[in-house]
Amino acid sequence: DWTMGNYAQRAIEEIRTRVGDGKVLLALSGGVDSSVAAALLAKAVGSQLTCIFVDHGLMRKNEGDEVEAAFSKWDINFVRVNAQERFLSRLAGVNEPEKKRKIIGEEFIRVFEDEAKKIGRVDFLAQGTIYPDVIESGAGDAAVIKSHHNVGGLPDYVDFKEIIEPLRLLFKDEVRALGTELGLADYLVWRQPFPGPGLAIRILGEITAEKVAILQDADYIFREEVANAHLDRDIHQYFAVLTNMRSVGVMGDERTYDYTLALRGVTTTDFMTADFARIPYDLLQKVSSRIINEVGSINRIVYDITSKPPATIEWE
Ligand code: XMP
Repeated sequence: DWTMGNYAQRAIEEIRTRVGDGKVLLALSGGVDSSVAAALLAKAVGSQLTCIFVDHGLMRKNEGDEVEAAFSKWDINFVRVNAQERFLSRLAGVNEPEKKRKIIGEEFIRVFEDEAKKIGRVDFLAQGTIYPDVIESGAGDAAVIKSHHNVGGLPDYVDFKEIIEPLRLLFKDEVRALGTELGLADYLVWRQPFPGPGLAIRILGEITAEKVAILQDADYIFREEVANAHLDRDIHQYFAVLTNMRSVGVMGDERTYDYTLALRGVTTTDFMTADFARIPYDLLQKVSSRIINEVGSINRIVYDITSKPPATIEWE
């Protein structure tokens, strides 16, 4: 009979047979798909697996540390590349959304390549491709590296024989169930989609380390309050956006001139169309006052009430 436990056991055995004593390389983004693929491969081939996690410094608050904590428990080679400065300096002065995406995509490949070269011989490249990616290379929380592989064919910088895609027959909900079966923490298994370019496309205009920190803190409060209200599985994607607009406000007796933050929450089935989430006013009020009180440099908060189309889910 079919259970996720049986499925996992069979998948692990298949991977072992196929890999033999070969070496496997996986680009780990911290998203659900690559995390579950990593866990499955870790169970199957342990220390024959190397996971490269490129931390571009544009992850959500604490996320880099969470990914590291989750995977340092496994008996695998886990490499976290702290490339924050590399990305920030390439992004300095860049305002245009598509340019940001291009820079991040290119830099990501470069950082990954640099690390992959250090490993030497690799027999298999593993990817967290899931069934919807196979039928249409749609959006999702795929690592940047994945879309590059998908469009450009096999990368030529590592000398490997084959691609392993252990999730390619699974839908998202099955991937989550498999992750739970393998013992991954809920915060990884239930992670909402997060774009490859990360917070870079949620900071309108120029990106600075200071703006990244402001957005991380505001976004964290929003996510925490949504989770406290037990709405984190009903709202399919929710996050904060730091606009490049400033406006006048008042704090105590002081006039302020600070940033406007936007909150975005959507419900959707496929992320191709989406409706704005009807977040209760009381929850919005709590989030608003916490962000104003706990995070500096923001004096106005708006809630995005557009659906997709005409707006996209992300702001850039
Ligand atoms: P939009 O903004 O186009 O987003 O409505 C649809 C979904 O795709 C995610 N998204 C991305 N995912 N790399 C990704 O892996 C990207 O560059 C990217 N851009 C958007 C977005 O978060 C939403 O879930």
